[in-house]
Amino acid sequence: MSFKLADRVVLITGASSGIGRACAIEFHRAGCFVVAAARSTDKLDALAMELGPDRAMPLTMDVTDAADRAAGIAAVRKRFGRIDVLINNAGWASFSSVMRMPEEHMHRMIALNLVAPIALTRAVLPEMIERASGQIINVSSVVGHQCIPRMTVYSATKAALTSFTTGLRMELVGSGVDVLLVAPGSTDTPFFEVAASVDVKTVRLAQHQYTPERVAKAVVRSSRRRRREVTLTAAGKLAVVVRRVSHRLADYAMYQYAKQGMPERHV
Ligand SMILES: NC(=O)c1ccc[n+]([C@@H]2O[C@H](COP(=O)([O-])OP(=O)(O)OC[C@H]3O[C@@H](n4cnc5c(N)ncnc54)[C@H](OP(=O)(O)O)[C@@H]3O)[C@@H](O)[C@H]2O)c1
Repeated sequence: MSFKLADRVVLITGASSGIGRACAIEFHRAGCFVVAAARSTDKLDALAMELGPDRAMPLTMDVTDAADRAAGIAAVRKRFGRIDVLINNAGWASFSSVMRMPEEHMHRMIALNLVAPIALTRAVLPEMIERASGQIINVSSVVGHQCIPRMTVYSATKAALTSFTTGLRMELVGSGVDVLLVAPGSTDTPFFEVAASVDVKTVRLAQHQYTPERVAKAVVRSSRRRRREVTLTAAGKLAVVVRRVSHRLADYAMYQYAKQGMPERHV
């Protein structure tokens, strides 16, 4: 049975930019009430105006802040009475070798890419389980399947989010709540400009990047079809397949792919 999207309340984190913004537009187009959450109030307000305030709510929320999360969720419940779909999409990366990464970057990635999605999931799950209906959609990454050197800590947070998503799905078997893992490959968003580049000379992007709109369409399609996992871009799918065949080969390929941007020294 498909998941009917009309009139669902969808809370999307990181909706001021890139994939999250595109998801807000696409779920709105599918007939949903969209809550667009992030820190940039001006961008969220502009998006809500574009979509029309009847079915779009801007929500200024730093997802790494527990009080902000609680207040944000309370505001959504006050406006719409429920949350049917949670899309944990907000994310950030520091491109750095392990030894040169500032400790603050390490904590920021863990808080944003891992702790916040777990905390938000815990906040919305009880009502979904009670209704025996809902979806948790976690935006991880292809690097959650196959680590890229100099994105090691970022990849580790995404691998942990991927693992969390898989475990949660197993815990929720029979509950009526779907858990979807989205693993985008290289996508044309401000992500690479916003990321910190500590000691990386160049960030080599895959040649055939997806647009955020294409990712968002895949997320909506997968939500409707209640898919467990979606991996995006041809290069991303290839990386996952190569890893299944041989970890050694996958590591070698990733090292070759990334080595142009690698620092000359390890520490
Ligand atoms: N682009 C890619 O190639 C790619 C590939 C694989 C996976 N991903 C993942 O896809 C997701 C979306 O990335 P994107 O490419 O769309 O990047 P993006 O354009 O940089 O968007 C990141 C979003 O996260 C929000 N955000 C950052 N810190 C936040 C915080 N503390 N609280 C609330 N929101 C916060 C940002 O909004 P504010 O600054 O307004 O808060 C922004 O809306 C991320 O999880 C990323 O890791 C991206």
